[in-house]
Amino acid sequence: MNTVVVGLQWGDEGKGKVVDLLTEQADVVVRGQGGANAGHTVIVEGKKYVLHLIPSGILWGRKLNTIGNGVVLDPISLCEEITTLEGQGIAITPDNLLISNRAHLVTPLHRELDAAREANLGDKKIGTTKRGIGPTYADKANRIGIRLADAIRPEKLRELLEIRVPEANAILEPLGLQTFTVDGLIEDLTPSIDRLRPHISDIIPALNSAWKSGQSILFEGAQGSFLDIDFGTYPFVTSSNTTSGGCATGSGLPPNAIQEVIGVCKAYTTRVGAGPFPTDNADLADYLHGLGREFGATTGRARSCGWLDTVLLRYACMVNGVTGLAITNLDGLDERETIDICTHYDINGEKHEFPPADRDAWDQIVPVYETLPGWQKDTTECRTWDELPENAQAYLNRLAELAGAPVSHVGIGPGREQTISVK
Ligand code: GDP
Ligand code: IMO
Ligand code: MG
Repeated sequence: MNTVVVGLQWGDEGKGKVVDLLTEQADVVVRGQGGANAGHTVIVEGKKYVLHLIPSGILWGRKLNTIGNGVVLDPISLCEEITTLEGQGIAITPDNLLISNRAHLVTPLHRELDAAREANLGDKKIGTTKRGIGPTYADKANRIGIRLADAIRPEKLRELLEIRVPEANAILEPLGLQTFTVDGLIEDLTPSIDRLRPHISDIIPALNSAWKSGQSILFEGAQGSFLDIDFGTYPFVTSSNTTSGGCATGSGLPPNAIQEVIGVCKAYTTRVGAGPFPTDNADLADYLHGLGREFGATTGRARSCGWLDTVLLRYACMVNGVTGLAITNLDGLDERETIDICTHYDINGEKHEFPPADRDAWDQIVPVYETLPGWQKDTTECRTWDELPENAQAYLNRLAELAGAPVSHVGIGPGREQTISVK
């Protein structure tokens, strides 16, 4: 059985934790899109790990983890991540981490272009993670990107940078931003590229033969469905396909390799960065921040918070083909007297069950809520569905009904043991 794990909201749904849980049954864990913009938190025996580019399966020792062609890879950032993990006792070798030679290279120049673009946008900025994600995917689409297969050949890297650097400097210089030299970039990148070289190859034949020989593959999505460049709240999105289809194009494993799609979503909604957020609720945000929750794993930014939005969830279940919902952070609502759930939108007097495409309509949305009674009991020690308070079960059943997919997992704490599998 091959499974995709995708985020159904605006990222940070708890994908890392769900992937970690499902890795026990998997042989290979695959990342197919995004880059170091992701921050996946996994807590094992009280020890916290934050992963950005490396699949969360790395925490399981002998599993194979792969970074696919659809990823944009910042070698400097990846080496920092490897050093941190090694410091935490996780060994990273070509036996447990393989990187596609078709993945695109993120350089310090791309990070600076990301910052420049944001500065230019002023109050319309996207609120990116400034990890160079957008400019690198733009280079890929513009056919001026640098793939790892070329980056690992010093002469080719120099040749390609000699074309790319003057073009980038022509944008950066008039803005008074940092400019780059080919020699400087090569000096900065070379130690990291050298460190990663043994991990880089054409991994697609190996992945396909793992699949054909019956090994179990788990795809780890990054970001969330409403950050997807096609289905998200465009232009306030990331630059890749974060939905389940992206894992096929991003890995070289075909769509018929996938049987199961686990959609991860919080029991409420959060968002970091700018862009529409219909159920945004400052009181709920204050409450959750007061509990020390909802601060970003990559940038440390406080996340905006709001009630669960099943308009988004319904759409995400549809475009991802969700077969099971993993609802995380149910425990965040434990003390609430009542819980609101957005069932549909009112846009200029019309009922909408799906999110709009035109960007002005997002400003006209009036979310329509249904109010359910809370359970006001601690759920963090529950280990089965039957142990969950009745009102918590009713809330989960209602959200599944509104979303159009069954609940497969319930998260009641950040620890590896705090996930209930629902039969
Ligand atoms: P990801 O990007 O989707 O992997 O999610 P992040 O790691 O960025 O953010 C999710 C946060 O919620 C992390 O701090 C997790 O440790 C935490 N988390 C995940 N599931 C649960 C849960 O069920 N309960 C609680 N309390 N925390 C959770
Ligand atoms: P994980 O995998 C939450 C958001 C940024 C910004 C927008 C574009 O941890 O769920 P980018 O740097 O990608 O160009 O920024 O996307 N964003 C995320 N928000 N979780 C993430 O990843 C995110 N990755 C990008 O905040 O709004
Ligand atoms: Mg995250």
